[in-house]
Amino acid sequence: MSTDTRPTPLIIDCDTGIDDSLALLYATASTDCEIVAVTCTAGNVSAEQVGENTRAVLELAGRRDVEVALGRATPLARNLVTTPETHGPRGIGYAELPAASMPLSTRYSPDLIVAEARRRPGELTLVTLAPLTNVALAVLREPELPRLLRRLVVMGGSYRSSGNTAPTTEWNVNVDPESAAIVFRAFGPEVGVAPAVASGVAPAVASGVAPTRPIALGLDVTERARMVPGHLAALAARAGCTADGTRPDGSTNRIVRYLADALRFYMEFHSRYDGFFGAFIHDPLALATALDPSLVRTAAVAVDVELSGRLTVGETVTDWRRVWGRPANLDVAVEADADRFMAQFIERVGGLAARQG
Ligand code: RIB
Ligand code: CA
Repeated sequence: MSTDTRPTPLIIDCDTGIDDSLALLYATASTDCEIVAVTCTAGNVSAEQVGENTRAVLELAGRRDVEVALGRATPLARNLVTTPETHGPRGIGYAELPAASMPLSTRYSPDLIVAEARRRPGELTLVTLAPLTNVALAVLREPELPRLLRRLVVMGGSYRSSGNTAPTTEWNVNVDPESAAIVFRAFGPEVGVAPAVASGVAPAVASGVAPTRPIALGLDVTERARMVPGHLAALAARAGCTADGTRPDGSTNRIVRYLADALRFYMEFHSRYDGFFGAFIHDPLALATALDPSLVRTAAVAVDVELSGRLTVGETVTDWRRVWGRPANLDVAVEADADRFMAQFIERVGGLAARQG
């Protein structure tokens, strides 16, 4: 058990959509989290809309201080496919937020990731809630990135369960499978020793020591993070209002109101496609795991990404029986303490809404 009580410094990569926005609220509500920067990737909606949504949600949480950067507008080798049916045409469901007034960073997301990792070698956790386009570009720029980062935590893939975008593929990997393949290989143990001079890192970091394997949270565990109306009601009560954000004096708690309007769209989607009126909140579970890896149990396994299958492009092919004979390159989450996570989410975001809403 770490005795380190300093907040965990995170770079959050997102494609703000509804569950991404819940992850951002969780991060701003968490005293054990230092948000170093937020980088935006095209996915649920366009990169430009992601940038708008990300800043608007951070402003809702009172965090105009956070650096928000845009990255590449399209996947590495394919056209962008967005998902308005899941997150709404603007990516925040039925919610309405004031136009963002905080500026976008002048830095390009892949460059930001590399620069911050070089500036704080071994300290930063990069948590990705989106297609891996920015991370792939970052690791192509800086092959030492896997060693410069303290940890990479990925929401993406489906390692032992069916997909949510095609029978065997999960959305984040499906949008940009080439980037996922680059990242999963780059963080594997076969990475060569980068010349310390070229990467400009301390010799200890460029020692050729295998990087820490990323934690990969696939649908196998993120679909256990099921938010239902009762959870929102409990969060609203923690914030001192009703589930639609109305306070006893008739005023509105803007954070709870946002959650109610965004989640109503998301829950209607899940009701149509997954048979329950609730929402898989994939991204907040990944964010919470980046802050507290004890929320999941993992298994080290070799994973690669299908890039040319007629029916399976984007599948995270997982070698559970070790038939490939390759070293493990991911720590795949196989169990999650969903109840503890949900209780933490309600307490932290409810508390934020009570203070900031
Ligand atoms: O498959 C779930 C992932 O795809 C989540 O990150 C959600 O936001 C969507 O981007
Ligand atoms: Ca996402």
